[in-house]
Amino acid sequence: MTTNKKRAPWINWALFFATMVVVFLLGLLASSITERRAENEYVFKPKVDLSEYEPRNVLWGENFPREYQSYLQTADTSFRSKFNGSAMIDELKEDPRLVILWAGYAFSQDYSSSRGHYYAITDIRHTLRTGTPKGPDEGPQPATCWTCKSPDVPRLMEKMGAKDFYKGKWAARGSEIVNYIGCADCHDPKTMDLRITRPALVEAFQAMGKDISKASHQEMRSLVCAQCHVEYYFNKHRPDAPDVTYLTFPWKYGTGADQALRYYEEEKFADFTHQISKTPILKAQHPDYELFLTGIHADRGVACADCHMPYIKEGGQKFTSHKITSPLSNISGTCQVCHRESEEALRENVYERQEKVKEIRDKAETELVKAHLEAKAAWDAGATEKEMEPVLKHIRYAQWFWDYTAASHGASFHSPIEVSRIIGNSIDESMEARILLARVLANHGKNQPVPYPDITTKALAQNFIGLDMAKLQSEKAGWIKTILPDWDKKAREREKTWPVQKEDEKEEK
Ligand code: HEC
Ligand code: HEC
Ligand code: HEC
Ligand code: HEC
Repeated sequence: MTTNKKRAPWINWALFFATMVVVFLLGLLASSITERRAENEYVFKPKVDLSEYEPRNVLWGENFPREYQSYLQTADTSFRSKFNGSAMIDELKEDPRLVILWAGYAFSQDYSSSRGHYYAITDIRHTLRTGTPKGPDEGPQPATCWTCKSPDVPRLMEKMGAKDFYKGKWAARGSEIVNYIGCADCHDPKTMDLRITRPALVEAFQAMGKDISKASHQEMRSLVCAQCHVEYYFNKHRPDAPDVTYLTFPWKYGTGADQALRYYEEEKFADFTHQISKTPILKAQHPDYELFLTGIHADRGVACADCHMPYIKEGGQKFTSHKITSPLSNISGTCQVCHRESEEALRENVYERQEKVKEIRDKAETELVKAHLEAKAAWDAGATEKEMEPVLKHIRYAQWFWDYTAASHGASFHSPIEVSRIIGNSIDESMEARILLARVLANHGKNQPVPYPDITTKALAQNFIGLDMAKLQSEKAGWIKTILPDWDKKAREREKTWPVQKEDEKEEK
């Protein structure tokens, strides 16, 4: 039974209007919420107004605290993988043959693997390679040496022009360049778009007939790194910049190892004369970007940032981790974004490639050390310039190919096949040199094998080439105590708020 009593018509109308009012109010509320959110997300109001080349990361951090906090973590040195990691590794201790290969050049005194961007200033100040300049016009290194260390570089370049920036000695900029690599190196402060701040990269593209400003967004995610992680040299013979150590990438014929060699041959360039064999040597400097380009990941359009700057989530917000370090410290955030394999399998993929490259590079090094020693024996036996010329050419090429791969960070994973090909060329050149040397030595009555010295430790190898390490180290320690505080004092006078916070003040080592 239903007591189906009809509602009075006015109640229906009242319900109708009441519903309309509720719907209208809900609509208002919803629209105000979305507006607020839009304000938060899209109408970004910076807390600090940043100048074009503001070098102090902490000020950028006021506006972008998540990215800044993650960038500060490049100070963390706790991660270690099989061959690399976030701490410095003394490479000369790991492999004393390097001392012999770089005899006559400051790398034989001190060479460690790289660590986080946070240490860029500390490490260039502390390495023996920058010497102990007492005044602004002294010391072994030119001002150009600062170029990949700090956002103070684009700040100064804007003020003085790149040409004048490259002029003079390293020590002349000691009190100006004090902030480690930072936001201004890669970002435009107004839009936060990625930008190129180093003219050498722009000019290298021009030399190849390319316009870097046409690069895609994904290419920029590698090109910001290519400002520094590349092979370069100091060109002292630019017609428009005489007597300037002008930072130049040898890319005129392309970015490969062979094209760079062709360029250097044409320039008749050498970084130093080898102390043992008297070979004019090219010192390679970390061609990370160039070798990466020859690998499968670059071929498939993967960028440096995809593996070294993964997206992370914090409090529901997705952002780019600026803790730039080995991707093996975060396989799930890097490799596994694209690959389904287990962490263990992916790590093994990396180690397997690194081990194989190391195996063949070890052989290349031993052959090359022997070639240098046998060349010395030949000189000592009375070999002539004419006899030695083809020998030294082979040694020069052998060392170039070997160093191109040894100096590159990460290349044995980034591009294992190209790296192996280049090392193969190094072995071939060493063998050619040694075959010629056997003949030269025989012509001068030497038929016994040249003895291989005991260079099984860094100390033995450095002693063999006559380095007085105790003296070099104590001079450097004294210099660090006397000169660096003066640089920092001057920096503070110029920029009252430097260093602006605790983390920046921590002088680690
Ligand atoms: C070595 C280059 C480099 C440096 C140094 C650097 N960034 Fe970035 N940053 C990147 C890259 C690459 C991205 C990803 C950009 C993209 O894909 O659009 C990025 C993205 C960002 C974004 C966009 C939002 C996000 O998280 O994806 C912000 C904001 C940002 N960075 C802030 C900073 C701040 C603040 C600093 C200094 C503490 C800094 N960056 C230093 C390369 C750099
Ligand atoms: C302004 C120059 C500069 C730029 C730009 C730059 N780097 Fe570096 N990078 C360096 C220097 C210098 C070091 C070594 C610092 C040290 O050892 O003191 C370094 C170190 C590193 C390391 C070693 C870190 C570790 O934990 O061992 C990695 C990885 C790295 N950079 C990747 C990148 C990537 C990826 C980019 C681009 C997103 C980039 N870098 C952009 C100069 C630069
Ligand atoms: C942005 C996507 C992406 C990321 C991140 C990525 N990969 Fe890849 N990887 C690829 C693509 C694409 C290929 C090419 C093979 C294909 O097309 O299936 C590839 C190929 C490979 C190969 C085979 C290469 C060869 O030698 O033939 C290995 C091994 C590999 N990746 C390991 C890794 C590891 C380890 C990481 C993390 C450190 C990683 N990948 C990160 C996309 C990615
Ligand atoms: C597909 C992933 C991937 C891409 C893309 C990639 N890398 Fe790497 N990178 C690695 C891996 C894996 C290692 C080895 C890390 C280890 O051994 O701990 C490495 C090592 C390095 C190292 C040495 C780190 C150390 O701890 O000494 C540097 C520097 C570096 N990469 C720079 C770059 C630059 C610059 C680019 C772009 C031109 C790039 N990488 C692109 C995966 C990648």
